[in-house]
Amino acid sequence: MKAIQFSAYGGPEKASLVECEPPIPTERQLLIEVEAISINPIDWKLYGGGLRWIKPMRFPSTPCFDFAGVVKTVGSGVETYKAGERVFGMLPMNGFGAAAESIAVDSDLVSRMPEGLSFADAAGIPLAGMTALQALRDQGKLQANQRLLVIGAAGGVGHYAIQIGKALKAHVTGVCSTRNIDRVRELGADEVLDYTDPGFTPPAEAFDLIFDAVANKALTYWQPALKSQATYVSTLPSPALILDTMVRTLLMSRQRVKLVMVKPRRKDLDYLAGLAHQGQLKTLIDQVYPLSEFGAALEKSKQGRAQGKIIVAIKADHS
Ligand SMILES: NC(=O)c1ccc[n+]([C@@H]2O[C@H](COP(=O)([O-])OP(=O)(O)OC[C@H]3O[C@@H](n4cnc5c(N)ncnc54)[C@H](OP(=O)(O)O)[C@@H]3O)[C@@H](O)[C@H]2O)c1
Repeated sequence: MKAIQFSAYGGPEKASLVECEPPIPTERQLLIEVEAISINPIDWKLYGGGLRWIKPMRFPSTPCFDFAGVVKTVGSGVETYKAGERVFGMLPMNGFGAAAESIAVDSDLVSRMPEGLSFADAAGIPLAGMTALQALRDQGKLQANQRLLVIGAAGGVGHYAIQIGKALKAHVTGVCSTRNIDRVRELGADEVLDYTDPGFTPPAEAFDLIFDAVANKALTYWQPALKSQATYVSTLPSPALILDTMVRTLLMSRQRVKLVMVKPRRKDLDYLAGLAHQGQLKTLIDQVYPLSEFGAALEKSKQGRAQGKIIVAIKADHS
């Protein structure tokens, strides 16, 4: 089968398309024929080597976590799925990646794709969608009618956060650049703030929850926008964030600072599949690349300007 491989740390240009043996599933696994995958910033961050002290890679290594495809064979210990079903999911961070024609996946890490969803739409959801869900529902404890601010509202995580915030019945404000204002509004945001406007400052004491999916500014920049009893959740750990969390805990502040670290969970995928089925969760697709242009897809993500999700179609590249 075809797969993408890195043989050492390096940039997107080091990603090679290779022939390798298909994986052999265990009795608890499914063999899945992959139709589409999506790119997340963690994919190029891991292979760039910047995270090697936290998460060292072993080479050769196949990248990517998000997949959507069709069940080919079912392990003898799996009763929940049958061959031919359309499924999607996120691989754990300790094995063979999703950028391949076939993958073996534990059956409790996948969910059935809802009717009407394309493979590209489904492949966008797992890592970014679960990050947004776990940030808003679990870390942020978002309640109906609360006011939510999503920073990075046009990106992979942020565009799902806008929609999940609305599904949780919050009043949602998105932060993005001028070119994305209409997109973010179409995703359901009640209000949109343009951070590129020279006069932009975050509104004072306006939000019960700030979800920062960009995290390129110190917490002190956004802190005045939090109500006195409110939560700030970030997707990126930084020494300043960790220090601030400790100080606030010591001072018994009623403002909480949290970090989301996404965990693959089938029940969360099921929940997101349900939202997609009801038309409450759509994948905004930036661009679909063939597998042969995997490096270009990774490079596009690295530029940090993705509008929604970057998708790689696996099957369309069979020729
Ligand atoms: N901790 C975890 O478990 C976890 C999980 C997922 C992701 N992450 C991290 O979270 C970050 C976001 O991930 P992602 O998949 O959403 O990335 P992404 O899709 O690459 O995000 C790109 C978006 O960021 C927006 N953006 C850039 N600068 C901005 C700014 N100053 N203000 C507002 N928006 C800005 C861009 O919109 P404009 O063009 O409009 O600026 C673009 O739409 C990444 O660093 C990723 O590694 C962490």
